[in-house]
Amino acid sequence: MRRTLVAGNWKMHGNSRSVEQLLGELKPSVAASAAEVAVIPPYLYLSQAMSLLADSDIAVGAQNVCKYRGEGAYTGEISAGMLKEFGCRYVLVGHSERRALFGETDECVAEKLAVALEQGLQPILCVGESLEQRSAGETLRVVGRQLQAVLQGVNQPLDDMVVAYEPVWAIGTGETASPEQAQDVHAFIRQELATFDRGLSAKIRILYGGSVKAANAEELFAQPDIDGGLVGGASLDASEFAAICKVVN
Ligand code: 13P
Repeated sequence: MRRTLVAGNWKMHGNSRSVEQLLGELKPSVAASAAEVAVIPPYLYLSQAMSLLADSDIAVGAQNVCKYRGEGAYTGEISAGMLKEFGCRYVLVGHSERRALFGETDECVAEKLAVALEQGLQPILCVGESLEQRSAGETLRVVGRQLQAVLQGVNQPLDDMVVAYEPVWAIGTGETASPEQAQDVHAFIRQELATFDRGLSAKIRILYGGSVKAANAEELFAQPDIDGGLVGGASLDASEFAAICKVVN
């Protein structure tokens, strides 16, 4: 049985005051949710989030991780070991914004995923096609390639991985994939995982991301291969995010 996960990716938003306010409102309002709830703040607010959530079941994740192991001369980077020491449970890997704006390749994404797993973090592998790729009928080819890079390139058990399907055209645009469009791609991802390892496929959670809000979450999460959501904009609003978490029961 896969437990539904609702994770809020704050991206590069917030300040100490807004973090305190958001988490203060969120804690009591998601306490009764059947979903596992996680917040993914910018690095600098991880410590604050961790203290504010010490008495709560809300998990904390990071938005990125260095692809290199251990410590070293990697100015500006944060290692998987540091994230683990800080108490992070999750780390996003291969978000489309990192692929598009920061030049992350499939190979780099696989390296990051491997170091995260080695340190006992649960990587959330983000995959998804652009509008041009969807229009050209290339959705499954692109998503398949992004997934295979990890399945073939990571040399260790993938049981702790989460996959997030985030069609780039649905991110921050207000345009959500229909439940059927999303389910089609999720079923494909599940099938690819099954071809790789049947047991893994039944276990791995596949989240949907891209303009998830309270008004569409219920229908999306009701799809057989959608195991929760990776929420951007709506996760910055405590009542909207709590309402998304509450559709899970
Ligand atoms: P939005 O929910 O703002 O579309 O962002 C989705 C996303 O990129 C989450 O990682």
